[in-house]
Amino acid sequence: MIPSAFPAAGAGLPADVRSALREAMRRLRAAAVPSHTLAAELLLMHTLGCDRAWLYAHPEQPLEASQLAAYFELVERRIAGVPTQYLTGRQEFWGLELEVTPDVLIPRPETEHLVEVALERLGPPTWEEEEAGLPRGHGLRIADVGTGSGCLAIALACELPGAQVFATDISAAALAVARRNACRHGVAGRVHLLQCNLLDALAGPPVWPLDLIVSNPPYVGRREADHLPREVRAHEPAQALFAGESGQQFYAPLIAQAAHLLRSGGILVVELGYDALPHVQPLLEAEGVWQQIRLTHDLAGIPRVLSARRV
Ligand SMILES: C[S@@+](CC[C@H](N)C(=O)[O-])C[C@H]1O[C@@H](n2cnc3c(N)ncnc32)[C@H](O)[C@@H]1O
Repeated sequence: MIPSAFPAAGAGLPADVRSALREAMRRLRAAAVPSHTLAAELLLMHTLGCDRAWLYAHPEQPLEASQLAAYFELVERRIAGVPTQYLTGRQEFWGLELEVTPDVLIPRPETEHLVEVALERLGPPTWEEEEAGLPRGHGLRIADVGTGSGCLAIALACELPGAQVFATDISAAALAVARRNACRHGVAGRVHLLQCNLLDALAGPPVWPLDLIVSNPPYVGRREADHLPREVRAHEPAQALFAGESGQQFYAPLIAQAAHLLRSGGILVVELGYDALPHVQPLLEAEGVWQQIRLTHDLAGIPRVLSARRV
């Protein structure tokens, strides 16, 4: 549908890249869509199959009626609340372009801190690894709990080409997206996708100890649902967002399973929900189980990642 207020191509009115972008920005801004400029650009890039550099290098490029129709249909859907990433089917994470669908949470920039913390805590390649020419992470066994799009599992598999990564999710539909993303980035042979509750599929017997567990679990309380932005509440999968009434349903069982499955010296890295720190930190302070507990804040100064080493 071309919104009636927008001039149709061929009607003798401007219908080029610049004017389409300006009109889209105007509409998105008027509808109070956050980051309206970026949304207008991304949706036009998606419609035309071009990058931003092309867009700004060809402001006078005429658009066909079908391109305008497709573009303004996306703009209207964005105004109606559909997140830009579900309209383009893409989101970047850790420099990797990932497919996203409404079956998976849209990976957030702050979740990249989990990758940073995990890599920092694993440390640089050992002298022996470098001498022997072994790939980084040689022999490591990693689990990503609640993998969604596969963002964490795939980022770690790319950074640690010697590691095997087990990525779990309760949602078969999410795992199908993660599988396509793992293929797209050439790590499908080392990212093993498992449909199960938390780490149940790895809980054995036999148990093969893990070196690293990362997780960005669901952590929104059902009672907070009304406070979520409309885009999130209406479009992102409830299974990826909610963790019981309080938002804390998953931390205790996850940490208990991690204590069981990590080798001595293994590392746990979890993302914290808003206000989750006072609940999660005591779970790691059980005597004799965890050491070197560290808190990492995100760029907004919010406590975001808790990590610890198995005694
Ligand atoms: C907050 S999302 C995180 C997705 C992805 N790791 C990311 O950071 O973008 C949580 C994920 O956990 C999955 N999940 C929910 N309950 C689960 C459970 N009991 N066991 C395993 N995964 C679960 C959801 O389907 C969702 O994909």
